Amino acid sequence: MHNNPLPRIDEQPEVRARLLPFCRIKPGGVWTDAASGHRVACIDATDASAVSTFMDGRRARLAIQDPPYNLVAFETRGIGEYIDWSRAWVTNKLRTLEPDSSFYVWLGADQRDHFQPLPDFMILMREFPIQARSFITARNQRGYGTQKNWMAVRQELLYYVRGTPAFNIEAEYTDIPKTLRGYYKDIGGERTENLERGKGDTIRAGNVWIDIQQVFYRLQENVSGCYAQKPLKSTDRIIRASSHVGDLVIDFFAHSGTTLLAAELAGRRCYTADINPVFCEIAIRRLEHFRASGKTGWQNGHAFEKEMPAEALLALAGQSPDRATQPTLF
Ligand SMILES: C[S@@+](CC[C@H](N)C(=O)[O-])C[C@H]1O[C@@H](n2cnc3c(N)ncnc32)[C@H](O)[C@@H]1O
Repeated sequence: MHNNPLPRIDEQPEVRARLLPFCRIKPGGVWTDAASGHRVACIDATDASAVSTFMDGRRARLAIQDPPYNLVAFETRGIGEYIDWSRAWVTNKLRTLEPDSSFYVWLGADQRDHFQPLPDFMILMREFPIQARSFITARNQRGYGTQKNWMAVRQELLYYVRGTPAFNIEAEYTDIPKTLRGYYKDIGGERTENLERGKGDTIRAGNVWIDIQQVFYRLQENVSGCYAQKPLKSTDRIIRASSHVGDLVIDFFAHSGTTLLAAELAGRRCYTADINPVFCEIAIRRLEHFRASGKTGWQNGHAFEKEMPAEALLALAGQSPDRATQPTLF
């Protein structure tokens, strides 16, 4: 058994080449789900005409995006180039949203480079007709940048709204535990600590999320080969708070298909895309695997295990089974 039998596809061109024939959509292609009407496309999120063809006139209630952060896991662009690239995909996304809709972006902040790209991305967002609503921090269990520096044990999530979309706080936010006592109450002569979280719909939305486990190989939801997978729980919180059953949710950086699966679980429809056909196929297979088995990922297996046993994949990547890499942390 291997912790992560599928090597990182972004770093292993031979592995990617071997998996491509098993991918049912090629660049430009779209897969439509007969059961729930989800769609998966292999397109570039910055390509306005490809996005428009994919959306086919439909508008989304909610956009979730988790773009490459321009940090170590990806080909590094200069910040100006990264912001120009971001402007293109944000423009395309905003065109596809309903008048009352929500827009969430996960972003990194490199402590060794003026916290980029976060600050320049925030400034970029001021160009668009959209309101900032919250700056959420999700706590990670394992950090990155641990060598000589502060360890970043956080992920930044920017939340914007257009118009006045609904926000269903009771759906998921009541899970965030209180960790500070804050104050005491005397009830019947007994001192009671205030650690209990209210469950009503009048609680304030917490924007520090400390209750979400990062994905790693011990979790059922782990998708081997995907180095930047977001936890289903964080995506579920976003979807249930900012959309209703039957709404359309979009995410054009699909990767392991977290938004697709979370939308399926919450009864929403999802249009998702990735520039890489292998990630499109993984996203589709993850949905199918869930429907067939009830499992949210492969844990120690992987999406292509029928066609490519783990040993063959690892040998191709020049890795011994013991050296199988774990996903990076963002
Ligand atoms: C950080 S990952 C998204 C992780 C995802 N939220 C999950 O939970 O699995 C970013 C993804 O964006 C894809 N990507 C990069 N540039 C893209 C582009 N221009 N258009 C569409 N997808 C792109 C990458 O292939 C990668 O799969």
